[in-house]
Amino acid sequence: KKGNYEHYMQKEIHEQPESLRTTMRGRLICGDSSKAKSVLLGGLKDHLRTIRRSRRIVFIGCGTSYNAALAARPFLEELSGVPVTMELASDLLDRQGPIYREDTAVFVSQSGETADTLLALQYATENGALCVGITNTVGSAIARNTHCGVHINAGCEIGVASTKAYTSQIAVMAMMALAIGDDTTSSQARREAVIDGLFDLPNKVREALKLDNEMKDLAKLLMDEQSLLMFGRGYNYATALEGALKVKEVALMHSEGILAGEMKHGPLALVDETLPIIVIATHDTCFSKQQSVIQQLHARKGRLIVMCSKGAAQLVGPSGSCRVIEVPQVEDCLQPVINIVPLQLLAYHLTVLRGYNVDQPRNLAKSVTTQ
Ligand code: UD1
Ligand code: M6R
Repeated sequence: KKGNYEHYMQKEIHEQPESLRTTMRGRLICGDSSKAKSVLLGGLKDHLRTIRRSRRIVFIGCGTSYNAALAARPFLEELSGVPVTMELASDLLDRQGPIYREDTAVFVSQSGETADTLLALQYATENGALCVGITNTVGSAIARNTHCGVHINAGCEIGVASTKAYTSQIAVMAMMALAIGDDTTSSQARREAVIDGLFDLPNKVREALKLDNEMKDLAKLLMDEQSLLMFGRGYNYATALEGALKVKEVALMHSEGILAGEMKHGPLALVDETLPIIVIATHDTCFSKQQSVIQQLHARKGRLIVMCSKGAAQLVGPSGSCRVIEVPQVEDCLQPVINIVPLQLLAYHLTVLRGYNVDQPRNLAKSVTTQ
């Protein structure tokens, strides 16, 4: 079942061009001279009006599924015009946070069986919100108990570390944003550009997978480290959180994803010549701010590894000043799908080199069905 691969995680990372294609199959409409390009999500089409009219959209999930929603949030805010908030399921339950009838609550879960997410769904249902599921598992508790939703169709994911489900979740939430924004003519050009980007995304992911050997070399360099920081912002704040989650859960190395905008409010004190820091600085509207973060880290002799858009290495620092990972550039809101790929590969190679169990990290289960 693993084919030519040694581990499921490795297989699932490398099958992302195909899993993304299945996620989007039948859901992107090409358009022609008489019809605009659009998306069709069968499970949401009868609920779009209610979602557009809701007072807020609140994403609820745990772990990687939460991170996927965080990656999609800026684009959903842009296209829906509705405030979008985020809740970790356990925290929402701990606080018994407010959920209203006028809310759309979106439950994101690969397995569809995560206890905290399921209990949060029960809570939101009782509070009268419209409950939408985004899950990979047809017939799962979340698929059955939500009012409507979208199956991500990424195919069965076996490795405990979620990889292909993450990228497919982001693709689905981008399509959801496109569907919600479909009634607004002023965003049509933007929507069409993102739809084109989605069509081409599997090819771009295939290109990013060619970084495999480079990431293996980087893993060799980092394998004995105690700790690894990842700085991101904007669309790629989620990439920093998710990259760090992958490294800690499978490579058993301390890793922390940090919002770059928070750097001066504490994390900067950690910077020295030894602690490795990955800075995500691909091209988008936050790029110039990330350039200045890089300068400040350089000024403190930080040990930087910078992820930048292909051909932009000279824009992130004088040549030779740091290691760079160049990734293919796509539409800004889809860039998290590309940027996570080298970090998944890095986590994978670190795990193998450090001699840990890739597919079943200690103490973890694929589906967390207890609180
Ligand atoms: C559906 C079919 C698909 C078929 C396609 C053809 C299923 C599971 N899917 O896909 O095989 O090729 O029509 O038009 O039979 N739902 C929830 N909560 C969730 C996820 C989904 O309530 O968390 C509901 C949806 O609202 C929808 C149904 O489940 O009513 C199926 O969802 P989805 O598979 O995403 O719909 P389609 O893409 O239309
Ligand atoms: O099945 P779910 O998406 O609800 O699972 C949520 C988390 O338990 C899960 O994403 C976990 O963080 C993964 N092991 C991360 O790789």
